[in-house]
Amino acid sequence: MRVRVARVSDVGLGRATPVEVNGKRVALCRPSAEEFYAIDDTCSHALASLSEGELVEYEIECPRHGAHFDIRTGEALTLPATKPIKTYRVVVEEEEVFIEVPE
Ligand code: FES
Repeated sequence: MRVRVARVSDVGLGRATPVEVNGKRVALCRPSAEEFYAIDDTCSHALASLSEGELVEYEIECPRHGAHFDIRTGEALTLPATKPIKTYRVVVEEEEVFIEVPE
């Protein structure tokens, strides 16, 4: 199922923007003008919003304890997080950004 979450012009460059998809918070990451990735907004270590963390290229840093995640794969790259976060496919069509989620 494809859910429209934003217009391209509304998504900040070099940062993560929190969006809601079917009642779930997702961090929409834009590491470059043409690239969009979507990950669960909640850290896999404890309760923290990853969209409040710093995005550097394809790594986002949890603002609470500093774990890093790869936004392309969801892999936890550094402690204290050990579990991956979920990723979602992003589609851009006619300046609209969509996130694909299971039905
Ligand atoms: S809550 Fe994210 S690293 Fe602890």
